[in-house]
Amino acid sequence: MKAMKVLFVCLGNICRSPAAEEILRSMTAGLSPEWSVDSAGTGRYHIGELPDRRMRVHALQRGYTLTHHCRLVTTEDFEDFDLIVGMDASILTWLRHAAPSVEAARKIRPMASFFSPGARYDHVPDPYYEGSEGFELVLDLLEDGCRNIIKEAGEE
Ligand code: 4NP
Repeated sequence: MKAMKVLFVCLGNICRSPAAEEILRSMTAGLSPEWSVDSAGTGRYHIGELPDRRMRVHALQRGYTLTHHCRLVTTEDFEDFDLIVGMDASILTWLRHAAPSVEAARKIRPMASFFSPGARYDHVPDPYYEGSEGFELVLDLLEDGCRNIIKEAGEE
C-alpha cells in the first residue's frame, strides 16, 4: 500500500477536521509504511484551542481521543501533504483559491468523494450550531469516508 500524507480541512478546525484526523490516524495505526495525518482550518476563530468539547465527547464514545490544537492552513501544507480533503463546498473553494500551483490544486478532494455509494450527503455538514445528532452524523460520514480513503490508497 502507498503511504499517504493526508490533511483534513474545515472552517473552525475544532469539529469536523480534527475528528477526521483522529479517525484516519486510528484506522491507519500500525500500517506500513506509516501514514501521516493532520488537520487545519480556514478560519481564525479558535487558533490554539482543543477541539469543541461536544465533538471530543462524541468522538470519545467511539474510542477516538481528540488532542489536536487548532491551526490555519498554510501554503507549505500544499507541499507537505499528498491529499488535502475539504469538508464542504465553501472550504473547497477556499482551498482552490489558496493552492499555490496547479499541481497543488490537484491534491484537493472533497471528503464526499470518498463516501460509499448511496450516501445521503454530498458534503460533511457543519455541526457547530447543531445538537448531538449533528455530531453523530459527522462521525458516521467521516468513518465511512476514512475507510474509503484507505481502500483507495490500497488500489493505487
Ligand atoms: P468546524 O465547525 O468547521 O467543523 O470546525 C465550526 C467550528 C467553529 C465555527 C464554525 C464551524 N465558528 O464559527 O466558530
